[in-house]
Amino acid sequence: MIGSKEASFIHTDIDNGKKNKLQLVDTPIHSWYQFVLGYPPHLVKYYLSKFNIHRGNLVLDPFCGTGTTPVECMKCGIANWGIEANNMAYFASTVKTNLALDPSELSDTLGFIVQSANYSFNYHHISDGIAFLTPLESQQDPIIIKEIPRLTEEQEKIIPAGFISEKPLYKVQILKTIIDTIEDNEVRAFFTLSLANLIVKRAGNIGFGPEIYRKKAKVDIDALSYYSVNTDHMIQDIKLFKNGRNISNIVHGDSRDVNSCLNSDLKGKIDCVITSPPYPNEKDYTRSTRLESVLLGFIQNKQELRSMKENLLRSNSRNIFVNDTDGEYVRKFESIEKIADEIEEKRIRMNKTSGFEKQYHKIVRHYFGGMLLHLKTLKPFLSPDAKLAYVVGDQMSFFQTYIPTADLLGEVAESLGYKVSEIELWRTRYATATSRSIDENVIILENQ
Ligand SMILES: C[S@@+](CC[C@H](N)C(=O)[O-])C[C@H]1O[C@@H](n2cnc3c(N)ncnc32)[C@H](O)[C@@H]1O
Repeated sequence: MIGSKEASFIHTDIDNGKKNKLQLVDTPIHSWYQFVLGYPPHLVKYYLSKFNIHRGNLVLDPFCGTGTTPVECMKCGIANWGIEANNMAYFASTVKTNLALDPSELSDTLGFIVQSANYSFNYHHISDGIAFLTPLESQQDPIIIKEIPRLTEEQEKIIPAGFISEKPLYKVQILKTIIDTIEDNEVRAFFTLSLANLIVKRAGNIGFGPEIYRKKAKVDIDALSYYSVNTDHMIQDIKLFKNGRNISNIVHGDSRDVNSCLNSDLKGKIDCVITSPPYPNEKDYTRSTRLESVLLGFIQNKQELRSMKENLLRSNSRNIFVNDTDGEYVRKFESIEKIADEIEEKRIRMNKTSGFEKQYHKIVRHYFGGMLLHLKTLKPFLSPDAKLAYVVGDQMSFFQTYIPTADLLGEVAESLGYKVSEIELWRTRYATATSRSIDENVIILENQ
């Protein structure tokens, strides 16, 4: 037995249903742009404390998403590294861990953006409700965007239908064109991230449940009041942490090969890993970030989308490719083979013949094979007493076959010389498809 499902709930003071929610005290910086599939900062705090990690230690999140672990470490003054393969999430993490911006310069630039957008909207006879806002001051002369840029055919093809309506799209495109004129890369990135927030929370016809879904089409939005209030909050956060240091390094890379992401001088130096990789299920992480990724230019066409997917851990039928070989590395694990075989047998018995369904059994093998490669290439970078926390959910997405993700990951880790010290229950989630509760656990590993 490698872990105990009877292990006590962590964070007993928080209701199961609220465990994954951002707490009010944590909103600064974390709220700038978030992932529906991310975990909350209080989980990171819990493990930093449990593992006794302080300033002077080094933390890594190899699947850092929108930067919850790096941002929380930065707030605590703990040096850290993050690795992320999704362009949009990588970008968000880099912006959220950059405190070296001048708040008064940012306020001035915000004034320039909002005034320029206001003039541009007027030029195109687009109303926006800016009149209700106190005008923002700026030293910079506003500009007017006369040509509203259009999406290319290629871009349109990869945005799911109905995710954004025409008028909100115009407003986003005008704002983006103005922001793109900012010369300083870091300042431009800051304002671009606020635009990502506007796209997800205001402009798009999208909701998360936790899958992304299309909501009722919005005819129009109050783009400038939302953008200015949100960006001003971000500037206040920068002021709040003005004595903070930039101690995060975010790498755009594939954590199945940690060697290709981290410099060799980090070997033996990482004291702690707090992370959550994708789970083996049908969630396509690139779809949850697709709208803003395309509108902000992080993915231009199908080829770029595909090459991004190729760098992701194989976890759903939308990112399995013919030349994939990760599954070969876990052939010796009977438990993994048994589950993969059971899925394929069910598919044949149920006469399910879609291309996606035929991939299901492969996902299980490639997923754990990818995690094996990750843990193997990570090991040389760990300090002798390193502690690792991996948040992973059990799954039943493939013909309701139960996948005990944490237990299987534990077997893989033990085969590489890690010790599984504990499996803690983080929360339970009710799966409507199966009318069952399934566990999301934290598997604690020790380097040895
Ligand atoms: C569960 S999310 C992590 C969310 C993160 N904890 C947060 O709070 O935002 C998993 C992340 O792993 C990333 N990912 C998947 N495969 C990867 C790989 N091979 N290398 C690096 N990142 C990867 C996904 O893009 C996704 O952002």
